[in-house]
Amino acid sequence: MAYNRELSFVHYNPTRLIFGENSVKDVGIELENLGANRALVVTDKGVVEAGLAEIVEKALGKRHAGTFDGCVQDSGVELVEEAAAYAREMGADALVSVGGGSTIDTAKGMSILLKEGGSLMDYCGMQVLSRPQTPHIAIPTTAGTGSEVTYAAVIKDRESSTKMLFCDYHIIPNVAILDPLMTAGLPPQLTATTGMDALTHAVEAIHALQRQPVADAMALHAIRLIMEYLPRCVEQGDDLVARGQQQIAATMAGIAFGNAQVGLVHAMAHSVGALFKVPHGLANSILLPHVMLFNLDECPERYAMVAAAMGLDTRGLDNMEAGEAAAKAVWELTRRMGVPQRLRDAGVPEDGLEEAAELSLSDGSIVYNPKFIMEAEEVLELFRQAW
Ligand SMILES: [Fe+2]
Repeated sequence: MAYNRELSFVHYNPTRLIFGENSVKDVGIELENLGANRALVVTDKGVVEAGLAEIVEKALGKRHAGTFDGCVQDSGVELVEEAAAYAREMGADALVSVGGGSTIDTAKGMSILLKEGGSLMDYCGMQVLSRPQTPHIAIPTTAGTGSEVTYAAVIKDRESSTKMLFCDYHIIPNVAILDPLMTAGLPPQLTATTGMDALTHAVEAIHALQRQPVADAMALHAIRLIMEYLPRCVEQGDDLVARGQQQIAATMAGIAFGNAQVGLVHAMAHSVGALFKVPHGLANSILLPHVMLFNLDECPERYAMVAAAMGLDTRGLDNMEAGEAAAKAVWELTRRMGVPQRLRDAGVPEDGLEEAAELSLSDGSIVYNPKFIMEAEEVLELFRQAW
């Protein structure tokens, strides 16, 4: 039988995962395992105020080189360079990021500068680096972005205010410590929207053009866990079992989309994020069911898998009907969690939809969407439905 190129794939996930209540305490040992002695904690002021940075600093003990707490939503190039200069000044030979996706991405950028020197923009693009970078342990305080296991960092170029993409296997964090105590204080709305980002990663990984079986397994289990535990995290924030399972789900979804890629939902979410500052998770949450129905006839069997993982009763349904049920289940989930379901309720003006549709066409995620998009008009129609 001839070799089928369609069936070939690469799966890569070098991040060592440590999960458990109080697992943050292992950060020093993990640092030692990486051959590092002094770590700079990279975080933001909110995480410091919540007392979470201090837990990590204490766990590091004499290996704590200092703390940079200047990370912000959508960190820019200058901020990464400033943070890296501070790390150098403090004699740090490793980084421990404590925060959401933006903070982890900042540390990814810093890990390059500390190793390679020069200007961050020299390393923008795909697979520019040729060797391992500064050791980096990621400790997420949200459960959604998957940045703790992915090879991408989104960093803003202040001058053009565009989001620059740094994609490189050498910036995947070496270790991710998933400690439910680190997400227990996340407010309900943020818990829900970041959690919906993870669900979107999983669903898009299942239908992306680069989908493959190992990523499928990761994504399907992530969907099972999210459907069961995300509402519990929202309704009962201190439910550490639910928090932990949601963290595992977000990380597994991260591994899935890091290998299989995402698709149209992310392309559209990036556009309304850039133009109207709609938070990433919220944009995904609103757009996901619309795009699922749009893509459905391209790969109904994939959506039947999603429906099954969601635990829906699909007896007697064909794949198309099961896919429709899966999209409905997403609406049901966001309704239960009180997440807005229309773009108009997320600060998007109706007269901005056309620009957003145009912008979506040039987004890197769109090329992995299962259904080929020819014209902005198709995306605009979806934006109108979601508005
Ligand atoms: Fe995302």
